[in-house]
Amino acid sequence: VTVARGDYLPYPYAIPSIALEFDLDPARTRVLSRLSIERQPGVPADTPLALKGEDLALVSVAVDGSPIAEGGYTISDGVLRLTGLPAACEVEIVSDCRPAENSTLMGLYVSGASLFTQCEAEGFRRITWFADRPDVMSRYRVTLRGTRADYPLLLSNGNLVDAGDLPDGRHQAVWEDPHPKPCYLFALVAGNLTCRELRTRTRSGRDVLLQVYSDPGSESQTEWALASLERSLRWDEDRFGLELDLDRFMVVAARDFNMGAMENKGLNIFNAAYVLADPDTATDANYLAIEAVIGHEYFHNWTGNRVTCRDWFQLSLKEGLTVFRDQEFTADMMARGQDAAAAASARAVKRIDDVATLRAAQFPEDAGPMAHPIRPESYQEIGNFYTATVYEKGAEVIRMQHTLLGEAGFRAGMDEYFRRHDGQAVTCDDFVDAMESVYRDLHPGRDLSVFRRWYQQAGTPRVSVTLDHDAAAQRCTVTLSQRNPAVGVEKQDASAQEKPPLHIPFALGLLDPQGRALPLTLDGKTQETVLLELTTASAQWTFENIPAQPIPSLLRDFSAPVIVDYPWTDAALALLSAHDGNPFARWEAGQELATRQILANAARHQAGEPLAADPTLVDAWRATLRDPKLDAAYRARALMLPSEKTLAERMQPIDPPALAAARDFLRAELGRQLAQDWRAAYQDNQTEGAFSPAPGPAGRRALKNLSLAYLMAGDAAANQALAETQYRGAANMTDRMGALSALVNEGSGDAVGQAIADFHTRWQHDPLVIDKWFALQATARGTDVAAARALMAHPAFTLRNPNRARALVFQFCLNNARGLHAADGAGYDFWAEQVLALDALNPEVAARLARAMDNWARYAPALRTGMQAALGRVRAHAGLSRNVAEIVAKALDI
Ligand code: ARG
Ligand code: ZN
Repeated sequence: VTVARGDYLPYPYAIPSIALEFDLDPARTRVLSRLSIERQPGVPADTPLALKGEDLALVSVAVDGSPIAEGGYTISDGVLRLTGLPAACEVEIVSDCRPAENSTLMGLYVSGASLFTQCEAEGFRRITWFADRPDVMSRYRVTLRGTRADYPLLLSNGNLVDAGDLPDGRHQAVWEDPHPKPCYLFALVAGNLTCRELRTRTRSGRDVLLQVYSDPGSESQTEWALASLERSLRWDEDRFGLELDLDRFMVVAARDFNMGAMENKGLNIFNAAYVLADPDTATDANYLAIEAVIGHEYFHNWTGNRVTCRDWFQLSLKEGLTVFRDQEFTADMMARGQDAAAAASARAVKRIDDVATLRAAQFPEDAGPMAHPIRPESYQEIGNFYTATVYEKGAEVIRMQHTLLGEAGFRAGMDEYFRRHDGQAVTCDDFVDAMESVYRDLHPGRDLSVFRRWYQQAGTPRVSVTLDHDAAAQRCTVTLSQRNPAVGVEKQDASAQEKPPLHIPFALGLLDPQGRALPLTLDGKTQETVLLELTTASAQWTFENIPAQPIPSLLRDFSAPVIVDYPWTDAALALLSAHDGNPFARWEAGQELATRQILANAARHQAGEPLAADPTLVDAWRATLRDPKLDAAYRARALMLPSEKTLAERMQPIDPPALAAARDFLRAELGRQLAQDWRAAYQDNQTEGAFSPAPGPAGRRALKNLSLAYLMAGDAAANQALAETQYRGAANMTDRMGALSALVNEGSGDAVGQAIADFHTRWQHDPLVIDKWFALQATARGTDVAAARALMAHPAFTLRNPNRARALVFQFCLNNARGLHAADGAGYDFWAEQVLALDALNPEVAARLARAMDNWARYAPALRTGMQAALGRVRAHAGLSRNVAEIVAKALDI
C-alpha cells in the first residue's frame, strides 16, 4: 500500500488527554488506555473513531464506563473502529503485548534485563490502539507498575508525580508530561539502571536536573555524555535563545536499539554506542559522535517536539533542521576558544566530515532507485525513509537558507517560526514561510518560491561553470548553468526528463596565477568570496580588475548540495590545494586531484596496463604534509584519499575491484614516496599526558594514525614493528584501534593474529568494543565471504542485537567492496541470506541491509547480473516484511 503526500486529511477527533496504566511483565504486559475523545467541529456524527494496533491482544473496550461487546466495534487490517460515539466521551481500551517476543525493537521490548520503548515512527500502535500519527497531540499521564526486584526504576516522560508500594508487593510510579505531544514521543523505561546526574540552572533561572542512565557497571562511561548534555543545553540558549522547558531531562542507554537515538519528550532513549565512552574503550570519533547525537536529540526538544510534524512526509522539517543544528553545535564546540584562523580551520574540518558523509551516503541514494525529495511524495513503509536524503540533504537545504539569510536573518526566521507554530504540528512549507518572511525584508522584491523546489525535487543538481577572461578589459565573466535530470523512478516518465531550475547559492572566489585571492565586487561590496544566487537554468556575473586568467575556487564551503563540473587542469588543482584561502575548497582541490588519478588508474587496471602515480599529486601531498600553518586535524582530512563510495559515484559502470586496486596503489605510492615525511609526522604528533578528546589532541592522533597507515601501506615489512609497538603501548582506544587496523590490513605473520586475540581477551566484557573488533575484521582487506562466515560463528555474534549485526554483516556488505563483489557471487548469496534472516527478526534493520544492492544497475556487467539475481531471490521470498519488500521492489523495477 502506497501512502501519498497529497492524501493528507486531518484526524476527525481530538484526543486531548490519555491516561496509560502498564502492568509490566516481559512475557505479557497489560496496557490500559483511557482516551478523552472529542469529535472535531463539522465532522459527521457517524464518522468512526479509527485506532491503529499491531501485534496486540485486545482484552476489552468501554465507552464512558460501559463495556462494548464484540460486534460493537470492528477490527480489520490493524484498525479498531468505533462508531456511534457521543461528540465527547471517554474510550477505555485494555490490551496485552509481549515485550520478550518483540524482536522488531519497535513498541515495547526487552533489552538486557530492562524494558524500553521505541515509538517513532509507528511503534506506539504496538503498545496500544491509538491514532498513531504525529498531528494528534495529547497530554499523557502514565502509571507504571512492576516488581521492585526486576524494575526498581520506572521512567516515563515529564515529571514524577507519585510513587510508592502497592498492596500486591509491586511498586508503581506515576508520570505526567505537561506538554501535549504526539504518541511517537511517548517513552517508558523499566529496569535496574545506574544514574549520573547534575543540576544546573537555565538562562531564565529555573533549576533543572540532567540525568544519564545506563547498565550497572557502566557508570564510569557516562561522564562525557552528561557533560555533552549540559553543553547542548547552554548552546541552544546562546545560539537560538531556546531553553529547556522541563524540570528534568533524562537520557537512557539501551544495548539493543534500531537507530542512533530517540528524542522522546524528556526521556531520550539512546543506542548505548552514542552514550558510553571512556578513554580505554572509545575512540575520538566515538567521543565526537556522542556529543553530536546528544546534541541532536536535545535540540529536537524544540525542533521536533515543541513544533512537530503534521504528517510523516514532513519528516525533514524536524530532521533536516535538527541535523543542521547539531552540525553547527559541533562546529562551535570545535572552534571555541581559538583565534580566527584556527577557528576557520576547525569549522572546515567539521564541514569536510559532513560533506564526505553526504557524498558517500546521500549522493548514491539520490542517483538510485530510492531517490526521493527531502520531502518524499509517497512511501510504502515510513521506516524506510529515515534516509540520508531526509536527514543530511535536508540539513543542506536548511544550511542554504542560513546562507541566503545570514546568521542574524536565519535566527530571526527561527524566532518567527516558533512565534507562529509553538505547540503545533506543521509542514515544511510553514518553515519556509517563516524564513521567507525574513528573506523578503532583507531582499525586497525577491522570495523563496524557486528555493522551495528543493523540497519537491529529487536528484543531485549538476552545475557547470565557465570562465571567460578578457585580458584587454581585465574582466572575467563567470557563467553558471544547472541541470536537474530525472533520477530513480522519474526516468520512467518520459515527460519529466529535465526538472525546473533550483535556487542555488554558489560561493565563489578567484585566485591569481600565484594563488593570491582576487578582490571581487558584487552588489557594491568587495570581498574574497562572493555568493552568487543562481535561480535560473543559466546566469552570468562579471568581475572587473582581473588582470590575468584567474583560477576559480568553486562552491566554497559546499554552499549547495550539487555536483560541480569544471575543466580543471591538474596544475590548477595543485595550486588551489596549496593556496586556496577557503580551507574547505582547499581540501576539495586535493580530493579532486586524487580522484582523477585514482579513476585514471582504475581504467589502467581494467585495461591491464601498469598503474602510475603522477608527481603533481605526490608533490601536493608532500606540501600539505609539510605545511606548518595547517593544524593536524585539517591535514589528516586533506591527506586522506577519497572513500571508495565517493569514488564509485564518479565511475560508470562501477567496478569496485578496479577502484580498490587503484586506490590502494596510490596509497602505497604516497606511503613509499613520502615515507620520511610520514615518519616525521608520526613522531611530531604524539600526544602525552592525560587523555582528552578535545580537537587539538584528537587531530594529532588522527594525523599520527593516518601516517602509520600510509607507512604500512608503503612498506609493511619496514613499519610493522612500529605498529606492534603502538598496539602494545597504546594509552587510549584511538591509538589501539589505529595500530590494530594497520596490522590487520597491512601486517603479516603471527603478530596479526596475536593482536586480534589480545584485543578480544582484553575487551570481551564490553559489547561496544567487541563491535569494533568485529567491524575491523569485517572490513579488513583480506576478509572474504568465508572469513565473514567464520566470524559469524564466533560465540559473541548474534543477529538479534542490531549493533552486532551492523558491526559484522553490514560492515561486510557495505564497506568491504572486495568481499561483497567477489567474482564467484558468494558475496551476493551472503547478502541475500542475511537480509532474509534479519527480516524474520527485525524488518527495519533488514531493510537497511537490503539497500546494499540499490545501485546494482550501475555496476559492471559481470557484477550487475549477480546482484540483480540476488535481489530477485529476496523478492521471491514468501512473507517478506513491508520494509524489505519496498526496497527490493524499487531496486528491481528501476
Ligand atoms: N527521531 C530519531 C532521530 O533522528 C530517529 C528515530 C527513528 N526511529 C526509527 N525506528 N525509525 O533522532
Ligand atoms: Zn533526529
